[in-house]
Amino acid sequence: MQKYFHIKTYGCQMNVHESEKIAGILTDLGYEECAEIENADIAVFNTCCIRENAENHAFGNIGMLKKLKLQKRDMIIAVGGCLTQQMGKADGLHEKFPYVDIIFGTHNLHKLKEYILLKQSAKKPVIKIEEDSGFIPEGDKPFRTSYPNAWVNITYGCNNFCSYCIVPYVRGRERSRKSQNIISEAQSLISDGYKEITLLGQNVNSYGNGSDDLSFPELLKSVASIDGKFRLRFMTSHPKDFSEELAKTMSENPKICRCLHLPVQSGSDAVLKAMNRKYTVKEYLDKIDILKKYMPNCAVTTDLIVGFPGETEEDFLQTMELVKKVNYASAFTFVYSKREGTVASRMPNQIPEEVSKDRIMRLVELVNSLTRGHSSKYIGQTVEILCEGFDEKKQMYLGRDEYGRMGYFAGTAEDLGCFVNVKIKKANGVSLIGEKV
Ligand code: SAH
Ligand code: SF4
Ligand code: F3S
Repeated sequence: MQKYFHIKTYGCQMNVHESEKIAGILTDLGYEECAEIENADIAVFNTCCIRENAENHAFGNIGMLKKLKLQKRDMIIAVGGCLTQQMGKADGLHEKFPYVDIIFGTHNLHKLKEYILLKQSAKKPVIKIEEDSGFIPEGDKPFRTSYPNAWVNITYGCNNFCSYCIVPYVRGRERSRKSQNIISEAQSLISDGYKEITLLGQNVNSYGNGSDDLSFPELLKSVASIDGKFRLRFMTSHPKDFSEELAKTMSENPKICRCLHLPVQSGSDAVLKAMNRKYTVKEYLDKIDILKKYMPNCAVTTDLIVGFPGETEEDFLQTMELVKKVNYASAFTFVYSKREGTVASRMPNQIPEEVSKDRIMRLVELVNSLTRGHSSKYIGQTVEILCEGFDEKKQMYLGRDEYGRMGYFAGTAEDLGCFVNVKIKKANGVSLIGEKV
């Protein structure tokens, strides 16, 4: 009888791709994917702990499975990812949800098959959390679900220890895959028909640091030189490691998209220092100038945090100033969330919730107005969109242009995975609506 799996993914693209690796392991074991968790023989939660609400979301969903597990006793529930890797969380999770069968972390995802087989032969839950051993996974066979885009890991872990961030604690030290493995993975994806490669790492700019392998710009150049029409993206860049060589490489290689996500976090030097970001506002703006010198039209996006401990109204206004100055195409905005074990969690002057709420509202309003300004410039222009899916709500096909902007159009299933020229007629916040030409 056919057995089914269902995976719930929380958090960043890194986790999205790791869920594809989990799906690869489950497919290898003979399971097939199903859309509804109720029909699954194995349910996997791939969790995130970047902010408290990400944690609560996963906890809530795992809690809701108790009833189902009582009806379907043979169903296997597995929980992995960044949340379980956090110190002490695996035991807490087991106590709170004793019906969870397998708990694994970020450093032993590749052993999931072993854990499933172990669980099938034993009654007891399998709880396995491993420490960072510097292991670099190779040879996994992800069951990819994001065609025409394919995610490719280039680095794992992070050494930056931004004072607010939990990632270095749950993902371990930064390590880079060998460039030849990355390039051959990209080559086989392109020959399999993928039209977009996104290179993934917490801090892609420091790729290869401390080794005699390629630098990040050299790696980009090598991947971009693979034959065939495709787009090349990467995320995320840390401003301290963004170099002129990278800007130059982007400008010289048309396959590399004309967009850069460069998280700034704050526009106040005092806050940046307390965040341990290792750059000043001036240094950040100088990098934006270098980028614009090579690619005047490059779309710049960012991440921003409000309510960091000690952030004054003046600091916040400096963030607003910076956002206006850079004129971001769009931005992810977050309220600071205290993460246990981080340096910032021990800082005095945690900001009251109502102050943070007020600040985030003002910031979101500003970011939205900038985004609308960028969108309105698109009206009447024809852009090349890589069609990546169908939006059920809008009943339209969708995809992004080389600046990373999402565009919607009335198309056909044949457009999926193709580059489509779309003339933009309307702009709706971040999304553009147009017609095929
Ligand atoms: N490695 C990437 C992304 C890390 S997580 C980078 O350095 O840019 C994505 C974003 O989440 C961060 O850029 C930051 O803006 C936000 N973030 C991280 N920790 C947070 C916390 N404790 N509270 C609120 N936002 C946080
Ligand atoms: Fe977190 Fe900073 Fe590393 Fe990004 S660079 S993952 S924000 S510690
Ligand atoms: Fe990503 Fe969340 Fe982990 S943002 S690295 S899944 S803590």
